[in-house]
Amino acid sequence: MPLAHDHPLVDGRTSSSPLIRAYRGERPERMPVWFMRQAGRSLPEYRELRANGDMLEACLTPTMASEITLQPVRRHGVDAGIFFSDIVIPVKLAGVDVSIVPGRGPVLSQPIRTASDVLALRPLDPEALAPIREAVALTVAELGSTPLIGFAGAPFTLAAYLVEGGPSKDHLRARSLMHSDPHTWAMLLNWAADVSGQFLRAQVEAGASAVQLFDSWVGSLSEADYVRRVAPHSARVFSHLRGFDVPKVHFGVGSGELLPAMRAVGADVIGVDWRLPLDVASARLGGDVPLQGNIDPALLSAPWPALEAHVRRVVELGRAAPAHVVNLGHGVPPETDPTVLTRVVELVHSL
Ligand code: CP3
Repeated sequence: MPLAHDHPLVDGRTSSSPLIRAYRGERPERMPVWFMRQAGRSLPEYRELRANGDMLEACLTPTMASEITLQPVRRHGVDAGIFFSDIVIPVKLAGVDVSIVPGRGPVLSQPIRTASDVLALRPLDPEALAPIREAVALTVAELGSTPLIGFAGAPFTLAAYLVEGGPSKDHLRARSLMHSDPHTWAMLLNWAADVSGQFLRAQVEAGASAVQLFDSWVGSLSEADYVRRVAPHSARVFSHLRGFDVPKVHFGVGSGELLPAMRAVGADVIGVDWRLPLDVASARLGGDVPLQGNIDPALLSAPWPALEAHVRRVVELGRAAPAHVVNLGHGVPPETDPTVLTRVVELVHSL
């Protein structure tokens, strides 16, 4: 099924924006830039709006999710909005008891560790995604020619939370399950792929012009395990977008060894963390893949001359790739001074 005639990519609103042109492999006059976690605690207007409200409730309140998505676009003049939500939202909508503990991350009341735990997982009712569709539609109507990026968590990163029951350092329980019970593992990742795939598809149908699949914790895997036990499920997420001509970005932290395998699951653009220079990343990918990244978030709190030199270097090394969307190598740290982010946008646009 193709995109609707009034979708922003089809009716011409976003199709020639710098972001979409770069994602398609071109070098537009203005270098596009946005920041992972650009919405959120670095913005006083976000802290005011959220106050003490629950994070996942905010995600499921369309006017709130839309307003929070728009805040960084208005403030910084970035080239994209990223939908304000969370990778665990489709998991919650499928009935899993998960909440976000501030300063920690997603926590489950019951970790999912056995075959019977996995068999008890219910499919996601498409009706439950109504607040997501509504929030995206509201946001896209406000954004005009600025594209909205939809996103989802990749099956491994979701499993890292589901099996552990919360954030963990090395995802040991998840990685042990992969080897001790490969069948249960495969069932779990298939379920995660389907809920994430439906979440992604709902965002695209409602007006997102590009998508990013976050496999944030994939860097804890060997390439062999990734290819055999994870990549087919990540490809399954993208299969939910079959027929939709939207650029697909794939990103993971510490994924330098996995870049070609991550591309192979069906990505058009690869997000690179701060560890790998973009010219090296581009060479590993064969030199023909548009890249996104990879300003070191640690530099955001450094004196401006150090940050400026770093941003210039990132842009210079990015010239090795056919196209480049400037971003951070991971999310905006909550304590970041937002005026610094605005200054980075102005610098990138001046280059
Ligand atoms: O601006 C944006 O990037 C859009 C919003 C966004 C959020 N989560 C909002 C959020 C996106 C793209 C995500 C994805 C997400 N969630 C990922 C993948 C991206 C990445 O950072 O690698 C992951 C791993 C999660 C899981 C998660 N949710 C974590 C680790 C946390 C942080 C916990 C904390 O308090 O430090 C969350 C909560 C969360 N998601 C916040 C935001 C703005 C902070 C909670 C708050 O503001 O109260």
